[in-house]
Amino acid sequence: MIRVITIDGPSGSGKGTIAAHLAERLGWHCLDSGALYRLVGLAAGRVGVGLEQPAKLAEIARNMRVEFRDGQVYLDGEDVSLDIRSETAGNAASRVAAVPALRAALLDWQRAYARAPGLVADGRDMGSVVFPDARIKIFLTATPEERARRRYNQLKEKGLDASLAALVEEIRERDDRDRNRSMAPLKAPEGAMEVESTALSIDEVLEQVLERVRTAYPDLFH
Ligand code: C5P
Repeated sequence: MIRVITIDGPSGSGKGTIAAHLAERLGWHCLDSGALYRLVGLAAGRVGVGLEQPAKLAEIARNMRVEFRDGQVYLDGEDVSLDIRSETAGNAASRVAAVPALRAALLDWQRAYARAPGLVADGRDMGSVVFPDARIKIFLTATPEERARRRYNQLKEKGLDASLAALVEEIRERDDRDRNRSMAPLKAPEGAMEVESTALSIDEVLEQVLERVRTAYPDLFH
């Protein structure tokens, strides 16, 4: 059984950052499942396939060639790292993510990332649907205002244009859509450790998570 740690939470909660740091600290693999939904959103937009064609969306998901290499993301050989990080791509992702056929198409793909020595997987349904047997499940939250502020800073750092007020609005809309969809809605999985990170630094969140990992897997820290 491969060890898996799941980190779920709403957009901008910091789960991607925490997952990446944790994976590095443990020397484990890391799965950014949101990137897969963003890639499908991007690929679908490019060929003009919309939500009214669920089977086509699933086909796009099954056929797209994705590589994560040196911190960059490639779609069919093209570096799309910046394209998939825009708010437009995030919104496109959250729309296609409500399509059950597409979620089903990504399921085995995501599970295949569970490889030795272990996997840290971040997303919305990692602990509830994709890796329900994971021993450690984290649910990371923060207020919408704080999440918008973090996203704003990230986008600015990448040289992308952003408005804070618009980001708060978009984050609320995306939360609503992710929480209220019928399939795999965003919610804390059973048995998850909830971390409210509004007033915490990355290091403080990481420390809380590591404490949990030390208790569950003491052998990793010898
Ligand atoms: O995490 P990120 O913001 O990159 O995810 C983009 C969108 O993809 C989310 O708003 C959500 O709708 C969808 N998603 C999902 N299930 C996941 C990861 C992401 O539905 N496991």
